[in-house]
Parts: sequence; C-alpha cells; structure tokens
Amino acid sequence: MSAADERVDEMLAAAREAMERGSYAPYSNFNVGAAVLADGEVFAGANIENASYPVSVCAERNAVAAAVNAGKRSIDAVAVVSRADVPTPPCGACRQVLNEFGPEMLVTVESASGKRETWTLPEILPHAFGPSDLKT
Ligand code: THU
Repeated sequence: MSAADERVDEMLAAAREAMERGSYAPYSNFNVGAAVLADGEVFAGANIENASYPVSVCAERNAVAAAVNAGKRSIDAVAVVSRADVPTPPCGACRQVLNEFGPEMLVTVESASGKRETWTLPEILPHAFGPSDLKT
C-alpha cells in the first residue's frame, strides 16, 4: 500500500471539513471539498462560485492552489467529497490542473453515504497534455 493510500481517510476528512467550512455555492447549491497530499502534507479547498458564473473555481483547483502557494510542486493524491449520492469525479478542467503537479496521482472520490471510488489520474485523463509536451 502506498503512502497516499494510507492517508486517504485523513484526506477525505480534510476535504469534508473544507466543504463544510469554505464551500460557497449559492448558485448551484452543489458543495464540494477537496484535499491534496503533497510531500506528506494535506492541503484542502472548497468550490467558490461567483455571480459571474464562469469564473467560479472548483474545490480541486483551490486545493491545488493552497499546496502550490505553500511551495509544493508535486502532488501524490487528491480526495474529493460532495453531498451527492454518487461520488463526484473531478471535472475535465480540474483533471488538467491536477496533471500539472501529479501526473501519476491517486484520485479518490466519496459520496455523502461513504461510497468510494479510486482511480489513477492517467485512468481518468488518458493521453494528457502536460509540461513535457512543450519541450518537444
Ligand atoms: N465542482 C467542483 O468543485 N469540482 C468538480 O470537480 C465538479 C464541480 C463545483 C463547481 C461548481 O461550483 C459546482 O460544483 C457545480 O458544478
């Protein structure tokens, strides 16, 4: 079992706490929390919507921003929670942002009732465009 596997419960708890505390979703009423594991530390974020709908930011991207702002550049895993009955997978834009800092990361999503699914990022973002594509 990898270090990231072992810390999934902790990350899901941090994601849920971030959702409860920080999610601002008055337009969709769809609250999301996320937590990433970077160099052994957990960083969390929640979705923050805006009256100008398209500038809303997903929970995953806010969690990545917290880690990167703390100086981290390598992410081993992400956990995502919502209040939905089915686990909420990261949207396409978030998959792309996650790929930048952890192309092999573990992705775990959990529903309100505790249903979990886990993938690797390459499974849900195959043939990703990433930093190395700019160097060819
Ligand atoms: N949302 C996330 O925070 N993460 C996802 O991966 C899917 C969608 C948010 C964006 C928006 O605030 C709300 O969920 C409904 O789309």
